[in-house]
Amino acid sequence: MISREQAWELLSSKGQEQHMLHHALETEAVMRGLARRLGQNEEVWGLAGLLHDLDFHETKDLPEEHGLRAATWLANALPEEALTAIRAHNGERNGVAPSTTFDHALRCAETVTGLVSAAALIRPTKLEGLGAKSLKKKMKDKAFAAAVNREIIRECETIGVGLDDFLNDAVASVATVADQVNLK
Ligand SMILES: [Fe+2]
Repeated sequence: MISREQAWELLSSKGQEQHMLHHALETEAVMRGLARRLGQNEEVWGLAGLLHDLDFHETKDLPEEHGLRAATWLANALPEEALTAIRAHNGERNGVAPSTTFDHALRCAETVTGLVSAAALIRPTKLEGLGAKSLKKKMKDKAFAAAVNREIIRECETIGVGLDDFLNDAVASVATVADQVNLK
């Protein structure tokens, strides 16, 4: 398996915009937290989070390829279950429907980062004091971070994690990388 350091070098070599690198770091952090909660392999889940959008620089105008290319590139770098999750995070457009706990975890983790970072950015104290209550309010406000798919966030419930716990965990996880993603 690829090391964390090699994974970061690989991701950094793709010339992605800074907000995508931030999104990758936030997703890694949320996946690590979910893996700990669910007794899964934190290293593998974290790497899947970090690398799930690896092909984005090539596929942003080819949505039916997004996830598939990354999984091909990573064939010898990550276990098959992680490759499947990377494909299924974009299942609506590439046809790989999510089925495993890992698949749903990556989908809700990468999606919740959009909600958490958008909510933190407009608060003077950023992540501090942010929690499930205000995030659920934001989820009900359709105009807020409108591109963030609320249904995918709720996939946490299909893997046995309640929405409140998931949102609180997500804030705590993103807080572990706050200084790297400009949310301090
Ligand atoms: Fe993503």
